[in-house]
Amino acid sequence: MKVVVAKTAGFCFGVRRAVEKVYEQVKNGCHPIYTYGPIIHNESVVDDLQKKGVHVLQTREELETLTEGTVVIRSHGVEREIYDLISRKHLHLVDATCPYVKKIHKIVERESQKGCEIVIIGNPNHPEVQGIKGWSVTPVTIIETEEEAEKYENLNKNPVCIVSQTTFNYNKFNKLVEIISKKRYDIIVLNTICSATEERQTEAKQISAAADCMIVIGGKQSSNTQKLFEICKKECENTYYIQTLDDLDATSLPSMGCVGITAGASTPNNIIEEVQKKCQI
Ligand code: F3S
Repeated sequence: MKVVVAKTAGFCFGVRRAVEKVYEQVKNGCHPIYTYGPIIHNESVVDDLQKKGVHVLQTREELETLTEGTVVIRSHGVEREIYDLISRKHLHLVDATCPYVKKIHKIVERESQKGCEIVIIGNPNHPEVQGIKGWSVTPVTIIETEEEAEKYENLNKNPVCIVSQTTFNYNKFNKLVEIISKKRYDIIVLNTICSATEERQTEAKQISAAADCMIVIGGKQSSNTQKLFEICKKECENTYYIQTLDDLDATSLPSMGCVGITAGASTPNNIIEEVQKKCQI
């Protein structure tokens, strides 16, 4: 059986950078150390950090109770208000926001200050989208579906600035922008989808189109892994979504043909390698 592993599978630049920053704090002994939300959607990495004394803050309220320590902001980024809170509490801030996400914060802040109405194409429940929203000084509309795009109305007639969640599906983004554009508002479109995501999605599509079976590895909460799964499933009916090797039912793999493997941005290399080895047996 042939096994093809996507070259773009696994940690992207922003996630690798964020995880490294936390390990750096551990090495430098900057205790107590907290991450604002799990640093990545990967239990084994979060558990390892926990053993090394890194605590995960689940809510803003928990952050509010701190009186000392280091707070690491993860690659998804946060709303402006959280920076203000960390500073008011005199906590040590380590900002691991991915530079591509930071760029969106700056666009949203600048364009909203100019009076633009901000539209974010993305999942309203995703922390990255909530963070982006928190940099606008004007009301924000979040659009995820075609129905929402159809219903969208720019009531105040100000120019509309459209940005995207970095991990949003490229084709879906274009489709939603096309729907909004038909309304003939004054629109600025900034495609802020990260190229790492686009490349991973394109490669996953190519591999799954030629595979007899496709395995997508990543956390169940990871939106970029969910999107990869959707893309692969369209091309290859036999697509499986697993978090670790334990979830892989080797009996469901074909005995001949080609198995493709890809993984979301929060999947460490060792998990990808384990799955690859298992498929090769
Ligand atoms: Fe950054 Fe792109 Fe990864 S935005 S966190 S490099 S998916």
